[in-house]
Amino acid sequence: MLTGRRILLGVSGGVAAFKVAYLARRLIERGAQVRAIMTSSAGEFLGAQTLAAITGTAPYEDFFGGESVSPHTELARWADLIVIAPATAATMARLANGLSDDLLSATVLAFTGPVVVAPAMHTEMWESPATQRNVSLLNADGVHLVGPESGPLAGGDEGPGRMSEPEPIVDRIEALLGGGSMAGTRVLVSAGGTREPIDPVRYLGNRSSGKMGTAVAVEAAARGAAVTLVTTADLPVSDSIDVVQVETADEMAEAVWKLAGGVDVAVLVAAVADFKPQDRADTTLRRASGPPDLKMVPTPDILAGVASQENPPFLVGFAAETGSVEQAAEKASSKGVDLLVANDVTLPDSGFGVDTNQVTIIRPNGASDGWPVMRKRQVAARLWDLIAEERAST
Ligand code: CTP
Repeated sequence: MLTGRRILLGVSGGVAAFKVAYLARRLIERGAQVRAIMTSSAGEFLGAQTLAAITGTAPYEDFFGGESVSPHTELARWADLIVIAPATAATMARLANGLSDDLLSATVLAFTGPVVVAPAMHTEMWESPATQRNVSLLNADGVHLVGPESGPLAGGDEGPGRMSEPEPIVDRIEALLGGGSMAGTRVLVSAGGTREPIDPVRYLGNRSSGKMGTAVAVEAAARGAAVTLVTTADLPVSDSIDVVQVETADEMAEAVWKLAGGVDVAVLVAAVADFKPQDRADTTLRRASGPPDLKMVPTPDILAGVASQENPPFLVGFAAETGSVEQAAEKASSKGVDLLVANDVTLPDSGFGVDTNQVTIIRPNGASDGWPVMRKRQVAARLWDLIAEERAST
């Protein structure tokens, strides 16, 4: 519930503004007080009178002409949280770059609490390098992005860029304001590809970027969980996540095994090397010495180690397959996991480095469920929903 919480709703100019009336209503139903700021183009898509009727207060539209001397600082002090929905590419660019040339961006600049942004725009605009740069800046500033989803867009187009529905936006707001669905749940996530040194300069590695595991950790934190992320990647995460930086399979094994006993759920997404060079040269190998004779030895199976602990947490493994996810069914039954998330990393929208993934959920009894291509953050959200259901039914 959001009883008594003060939420400032920023509406910028996009077709998705029509969903904002529902969003405002949902927030009020959960007990929040809502005030709204509309940018100059928002009024083309949503009537100010509609928001006034739902929230009980006329939306703010301009710095000037109202009763307040300094509306941006007053609103920033009033609010517990600011949510911007829909956030157009222009509004995101303003926020990412700290502009204050309209009431909404100035208010955000003057605000010190949590900011939730629900982008909505055409796919080309969403995927443009400039918008993606702004997304990275906003993430690094701790802004909470919800969506966008993939689906039908204005003008008959289709693809990523559709604003999230009001429900996930409200969920995120509740999580941020303390009533998160995973509050009290302790979570351990591993992410990234391990690097096995050959000499001080060279290593054997893999193509994992750490994006999927990081998304799993960030989503759990957004839902209020206490999250520890053991990772080889250096991607931005929310401040609340406890990050343990590692490089090799041995380091990851040590960290994960130490932490696994104290968590409720472990999701091991990392792409861990199965073998490492037996010896690591102390100085760089020289060309003149000829090709090195690398003797490889196995690394620990981290997942198996967690599964064999006395009271293992709810355990989720990931399996990167090439060509088909059939072999993953065998892993689901042999590895002692509660769920296995398999993906074919050779598909264009799936696997290493990209922001989307197409996964198949496999249970230890072999039952499988293929999910559509989604952004990694959406895969993470659906995975946490599933984990919650599974844990509730056991
Ligand atoms: N894993 C692990 N420790 C390892 C290797 C893998 O904990 N040394 C974990 C991964 O984090 C992942 C799961 O096991 O959650 C599946 O990884 P995968 O490499 O697909 O499994 P392998 O048993 O190594 O199978 P394969 O022979 O296909 O490499």
